[in-house]
Amino acid sequence: MNKGLEVARGKTKVLYEKPGQPDVLIVQATDAITSGDGARRDEIAGKGRLAAKTTARVFRLLNLCGLPTHYLSGGEDDDDNEMLVRRCTMVPLEVVVRGVAAGSLVRRKPGIARGSIIIPRMVEFFLKDDANHDPLIDPDEIVHRGLASPPEIGAMSEIARITFEILAHAWRRREALLVDLKLEFGRIQSGEGRGTLVIADVIDNDSWRVWPQGREDLMLDKQMYRDLETVTPADLERVRQNYELVSELVGQFPSARPAMIALAADGPDSLGILDPVVGALQVFGLQTLRRVVSTHLVPGYVLQAAQQLDATFARLIYVASGPQLAAMLAAATPTPVFDATEFEAEELAQIVAKTLAVDDTIMFGRVLLVQANARSAVLHADAQINAPPPQAPLG
Ligand code: C5P
Repeated sequence: MNKGLEVARGKTKVLYEKPGQPDVLIVQATDAITSGDGARRDEIAGKGRLAAKTTARVFRLLNLCGLPTHYLSGGEDDDDNEMLVRRCTMVPLEVVVRGVAAGSLVRRKPGIARGSIIIPRMVEFFLKDDANHDPLIDPDEIVHRGLASPPEIGAMSEIARITFEILAHAWRRREALLVDLKLEFGRIQSGEGRGTLVIADVIDNDSWRVWPQGREDLMLDKQMYRDLETVTPADLERVRQNYELVSELVGQFPSARPAMIALAADGPDSLGILDPVVGALQVFGLQTLRRVVSTHLVPGYVLQAAQQLDATFARLIYVASGPQLAAMLAAATPTPVFDATEFEAEELAQIVAKTLAVDDTIMFGRVLLVQANARSAVLHADAQINAPPPQAPLG
């Protein structure tokens, strides 16, 4: 890719301007691997390729779930390990989410047993300051130093937690435990959405701990490199193999599993019952089709239509316009059936999405985001109701 001026250089990546696009940067991953705040440094041929692939795939998954990230495109193909991102002003913090006790947490708090599950997830902030080994910093101090506002700290914690849950869901489906995760945030510097807080930097195999089968001795992440006493070429090759495996596994994370929601009306007059459900399902990006059948006028046709749909779609869910049709479909097909009259449309859409989320991480993430938005709408409404009335315009 045609690159402009170098903007910044990290330990494992270089950022360039994108000629003619002031709101966009190019992030190029390098072959470097470092630990101990740069005290140990090696090169692994091909690591930049694997890192670019991993981070692009993670960001694509998060974007598909609806989370705000700086990622635009690139990184996955043979493209000089470059991805395009929105230009951000970085918040100088590392935001760590922990689901299992490990690393610096068990060193700081010996009372917490290594490997124990942490519920609720813990979110910690570290100040980005290599010279002082990225010290832990508490939210009051972050505000005091003017690094982020209280609402921004709340947003970073919430987004980081949701990101952790999404990636943990994806890893669990590959028989691996996501132990902890580090994120960085930025504020969009210019153009559309200026000032918006987004997940920035990279999320790759250097950013997390991953234990296959929940076993630390099988770790796939950078910890293996940090733990080496001396670094031999054979060690680096083992590290490279782990990074390669991780990039392949992460390659499956952002693949949406196509599903169809069949909305069945019991007679033409019942079609209107299904209209709000269509809108509510769209929030999750779910595809729908509509059929009109009739349990009492053409019962044979109901069964025929159901058999045809069952045979056509690998992942199908029925929503019936009333209890009679729901009962008939439930008895006739092995596919899940819901009765639209039993639920509010939004509630029903969420149940359908959750059913699909069992084996679809994108749907799982969308459910988490819809739930988080619903929670924040309640808090916002409460704040509004207690807010002082708007001042009358002067004059
Ligand atoms: O070392 P510690 O337990 O605090 O690390 C927590 C998580 O943050 C780990 O997944 C680690 O890989 C990640 N991390 C990182 N960059 C750092 C420090 C930690 O990606 N500078």
